[in-house]
Amino acid sequence: MTGRKDTKLWGGRFDRPPDERFDAFQRSFAFDRRLLPYELAVNRAWSRALEKVGVLTAAEVKQVHAALERIAQRIQSDPAWVETSDAEDLHHFSEKALVEALGPLGWKVHTGRSRNELIATDFRLFVIDAAAETQKAVVALAKALVEKAEAKLGVPMAGMTHMQRAQPILLSHFLLAHVEAFARDVTRLRAAAAGADACPMGSGALAGCAFPVDRMAIARELGFSRITANSLDAVSDRDFALDYLFALAGIATHLSRLAEDFVLFASQEFGYAILPDEYSTGSSLMPQKKNPDAWELIRGKTGRITAALFGLLTTLKGLPSSYQRDLQEDKETLFAAHDQANGMVRVAAGAAAAMEFNAERLRAAASDPALLATEAADWLVRRGVPFRQAHDVIGQVLREAERQGKQWTRLTLDELKKISPVFERDFLEGPSVESALAACSIPGGTSLESVRAAISQWKARLEQLGASA
Ligand code: ARG
Repeated sequence: MTGRKDTKLWGGRFDRPPDERFDAFQRSFAFDRRLLPYELAVNRAWSRALEKVGVLTAAEVKQVHAALERIAQRIQSDPAWVETSDAEDLHHFSEKALVEALGPLGWKVHTGRSRNELIATDFRLFVIDAAAETQKAVVALAKALVEKAEAKLGVPMAGMTHMQRAQPILLSHFLLAHVEAFARDVTRLRAAAAGADACPMGSGALAGCAFPVDRMAIARELGFSRITANSLDAVSDRDFALDYLFALAGIATHLSRLAEDFVLFASQEFGYAILPDEYSTGSSLMPQKKNPDAWELIRGKTGRITAALFGLLTTLKGLPSSYQRDLQEDKETLFAAHDQANGMVRVAAGAAAAMEFNAERLRAAASDPALLATEAADWLVRRGVPFRQAHDVIGQVLREAERQGKQWTRLTLDELKKISPVFERDFLEGPSVESALAACSIPGGTSLESVRAAISQWKARLEQLGASA
């Protein structure tokens, strides 16, 4: 405290200032200032811990807390203060602000701690909040899809595999399939938050802290449920960030698949979906165009999210133990991925809610008799024909119908009996879209009853998931 003018966090052992270009290159305040609220919370908890070990008096802690409160308020009310600051990073900013407010007492707050553990702590707190925010958005999207599924209950469509018509399903069943995927994303988000939930404070730069601070008390004050176990690991572990990015990459991947379905369904070739004006744009050249831009952009932005995961994996690969400055590269891409993913999820929720469907087109596609071939084979199985033979017999039926240039359901009983004597009149009365749907009445199947049950289960579960975010 001997007349120190430069409030930089380091520099005592340096003769010359850093090269200008390098200095700009190494600064992180432009992006890590997003973590300021967490840094201030850590300062609050740390100063209390310093009191318990006799570094600060109770009166000093009071002053520090009051100053932190004022700093937090000024950050809110005076954005230019932050924007025009020449701070190197957020730790520098908060220390400078404390020293401005309190004089040398401000410097005491950094006793026994390192920026290495601070940044890890701030970043963990960010990821915990970020995962909760994303969870809320994903649950809202899932709710929009469940509501659509409920509103469209009963509309059949042609279920496809390999993009070839396969069997009739309910449109609601299709929508709920996407809900399943988003629910798995919620599970992953929660796992990422649980992984981040360990407080590094007390790890020091790498070796731990020579002041016997109560680590568990600090952790609890910050909202963590546990402390990290190894100081060396704690300052360099970014697995929680990887987990969060993996969860975001999962969401983006699922969104891009939903987007692809809707882009196809909105094409004139399918004509299943009707694009809402609010989520579409036109062409500058072709007056007739209405394009599914919301879904295309969602699909397109997936690349950035996946890239953020790969980017951090690549940064971490080959790092020696303990803190390395490379780790500063973890934040910008994660912040950007978080913002992008949340934007994607929110737009998807709005666009899905506004999406309308052409029930007639969907039903017409589902009514293609070819889709009833599996049900026809099952009819034979129920009369004792081994499935492989039944499959073969129906294959011959389809071939004969194709040869005659008509639907197989239009073949006569005589024609059918030539292929297999097992056929009876009721075979030709049997198969229909409705009977095919009703046949899949087991849990998880596409019958009206199964899907109705799934909708009500989802409504209850999403209520819970929304409340727990
Ligand atoms: N800005 C750094 C980061 O984001 C934290 C401080 C770095 N610590 C250091 N000793 N230079 O990781």
